[in-house]
Amino acid sequence: MTPDQIELVQTSFAKVAPISDQAAVIFYDRLFEVAPSVKAMFPADMTEQRKKLMSTLAFVVSGLSNLDSVLPAASALAVRHVSYGARAEHYPVVGAALLWTLEKGLGPDWTPEVADAWTAAYTTLSGYMIAQAYGRPQAAE
Ligand code: HEM
Repeated sequence: MTPDQIELVQTSFAKVAPISDQAAVIFYDRLFEVAPSVKAMFPADMTEQRKKLMSTLAFVVSGLSNLDSVLPAASALAVRHVSYGARAEHYPVVGAALLWTLEKGLGPDWTPEVADAWTAAYTTLSGYMIAQAYGRPQAAE
């Protein structure tokens, strides 16, 4: 990711922060719509899950300019996800739901540059998590 892309991700995420819980509702609704089979993997009450997702995203987004500060936590998160039943092929589905949510939340602020920056951020993060959890030869750059 370029420094400009990191800034775009950070400034756009800050715009979604005030509607964080609503964004998480939209995200899981979308995820379960496009991938109904993963719904059973999640708890029935998603209240805490929504908070955990958004606070983890906030942590990762704030650490993008200093990746070494987030990689250990991302690695541990990826390994925990194996026991949740997450598979490597789920990551692109989750990424698409996340980008869709950001597009809805940001409206006109979802520019092609912002979309590219988020694609780069999610590709970097998910590639690293997949490599950590499943040993695929992909690394964060
Ligand atoms: C970068 C991508 C992802 C992020 C940032 C993320 C974040 C989180 C966080 C913060 C939690 C709370 C529990 C914990 O911290 O261990 C969680 C739980 C969970 N995630 Fe993810 N996740 C990601 C990708 C995925 C994928 C690809 C799947 C596959 C369907 C998935 C399925 C789950 C499930 C089922 C739980 C709930 C586990 C339980 O409470 O029983 N996640 N995720």
